[in-house]
Amino acid sequence: MAWDTTVTLGKGDVVSNESLANLLREERRFAPPADLAANANVTAEAYERAKADRLGFWAEQARRLTWAAEPTETLDWSNPPFAKWFADGKLNVAYNCVDRHVENGLGDRVAIHFEGEPGDTRSVTYAELQREVSKAAHALTELGVRTGDRVAIYLPMIPETVVAMLACARIGAPHSVVFGGFSADALATRIEDADARVVITADGGYRRGKPSALKPAVDEALTRPGTENVGNVLVVRRTGQEVAWAEGRDVWWHELVDRQPEQHTPEAFDAEHPLFILYTSGTTGKPKGILHTTGGYLTQVSYTHHAVFDLKPESDVYWCTADVGWVTGHSYIVYGPLSNGATQVLYEGTPDTPHQGRWWEIVQKYGVTILYTAPTAIRACMKWGDDIPAKFDLSSLRILGSVGEPINPEAWVWYRKHIGADKTPVVDTWWQTETGGMMISPLPGVTETKPGSAQIPLPGISATVIDDDANEVPDGSGGYLVLTEPWPSMLRTIWGDDQRYLDTYWSRFANRYFAGDGAKKDDDGDIWLLGRVDDVMLVSGHNISTTEVESALVSHPKVAEAAVVGATDPQTTQAICAFVILRGGAAEEDGLVEELRAHVSKHLGPIAKPKRILPVAELPKTRSGKIMRRLLRDVAENRTLGDVTTLTDSSVMELIQSKLPSAASED
Ligand code: WT7
Repeated sequence: MAWDTTVTLGKGDVVSNESLANLLREERRFAPPADLAANANVTAEAYERAKADRLGFWAEQARRLTWAAEPTETLDWSNPPFAKWFADGKLNVAYNCVDRHVENGLGDRVAIHFEGEPGDTRSVTYAELQREVSKAAHALTELGVRTGDRVAIYLPMIPETVVAMLACARIGAPHSVVFGGFSADALATRIEDADARVVITADGGYRRGKPSALKPAVDEALTRPGTENVGNVLVVRRTGQEVAWAEGRDVWWHELVDRQPEQHTPEAFDAEHPLFILYTSGTTGKPKGILHTTGGYLTQVSYTHHAVFDLKPESDVYWCTADVGWVTGHSYIVYGPLSNGATQVLYEGTPDTPHQGRWWEIVQKYGVTILYTAPTAIRACMKWGDDIPAKFDLSSLRILGSVGEPINPEAWVWYRKHIGADKTPVVDTWWQTETGGMMISPLPGVTETKPGSAQIPLPGISATVIDDDANEVPDGSGGYLVLTEPWPSMLRTIWGDDQRYLDTYWSRFANRYFAGDGAKKDDDGDIWLLGRVDDVMLVSGHNISTTEVESALVSHPKVAEAAVVGATDPQTTQAICAFVILRGGAAEEDGLVEELRAHVSKHLGPIAKPKRILPVAELPKTRSGKIMRRLLRDVAENRTLGDVTTLTDSSVMELIQSKLPSAASED
């Protein structure tokens, strides 16, 4: 295996990587199942077609949608990087996601199987969804929301959330969904930045077996300066909790929406009309309002959902476990699946309530065929034990997807084996809030998959890996992941800040969108994501990716999860410090830390051997499941902790800190 052992990520070189070489052993490749390949929605020919005529390919995909005015132009790139896709086309997103299916005779098809955390259920057909969206659109209009006005949505995972988003889309009012786990402060900042006119919320939602309030955070947010333009708060009753009420401002959903007419005529908007703003926190500073527009966005999310999940809308039951507060929920719960007429599961709660088999019980109950989740959830399930999914009938599953962070090969293999009966393709999909839709992913009926690799750009997408001087790196080496051509669902700007859009994404390399991620190309040219370049460590002049050290640690049978950071070190610039969660059953016995250090050294080379390894019970994560390395660096460098407000559970950090002195291993 001629894996070139050096990776350039700016300064210096990463040392070798036997582990990747290992992972690329022939037997770790999985061919698509024959029946899936034979009936796949998209075949290898799509790559050829898109390569021969990229814009023609996207123009063809745009025909998946129903346009009120068909576009005659595909891409206007005359003022880069401000793209216009299908600019002279007109369409209504809600019509495409709902009404047209009803018109096609599919009104009785279930759009949403809702499963509440307490076990209450509700199935919403496309015909019902059409009525609900129509009524909600009238309700927003009655509240004075006009085309172009922004609406903030702060809701749990319930059908009304989908209805609210589609109602906004229907009247051309861009929504800004704020994740229900965010604080009043985070909500206020986002309301202010988008200058929202209405907030849609609920009394609360169910989480971890109990009602969790939402309305008080809205009440508090609306006392902050900058939120004065919010005229009304529309409140869904979900938990029945007591709520404070501002007369004249607050309106119950069931009082206002339920009395509206069930028919609503959708208006066609320009393809470049803003569809939504979604805030992403980035590393520092004020959150960035990522702006997505209408025609190009819907084209790409519809196409990728059809291609990557091979969706057969008449027979598949699709389930994406993300929260609608993240882009995954926007693109692959709401817009992609509904534009394709899918039947899907929407689950309100956490995977371990009331027991650690809840997800698998839901898969069995609804006969879920396509499951889309995140590596962090997969690793949590690994930690809970193989016996839990084994108790359920998961034989309906035919495709498994992953998104959100690099999936380590062990988790990938576990997912395929224990959830996918060792035969279901796993598609690791790389994309971002900014890209709007999937960009790099296997196609389940085409690609011979490799555990841990997102593999190649989807048809119509141009991505590559370059070095510091913007030269494309040869196969077998690494560098910065960049996108080299505009794509339909790309962000159009940062809301209200074109300069920041230019600076953040387009200034590091000329004419290239820099995604912020490091990546490697293997000898076949397949792409392996290495995590954010900000997370790359510099150890004795070598760049080492946190992802690779984590992956090496997790390949040890006793390790369920690992987080690695570089801590300032007088001798080596940075020293590798690892926090590990042991697998269910594994004890923190003497010598384990040494064993793990030796394990990493063997897999990645002595330079990548962690200086310290600390077994912990939990890792600090954002609510979207990303490890907060910044906080772990604070711990590793004995600093007071920075901002912990976006943590899922802030007590985690106290636990970790209290363990630090004794358990650390020093050379
Ligand atoms: C960042 C974007 C895409 C929706 C959820 C996250 C990381 C995402 C993968 C993957 C490796 C991945 C990247 C990316 N990421 N998917 N399959 N393999 N890394 O959206 O919050 O905007 O985060 O998540 O670092 O840049 P987001």
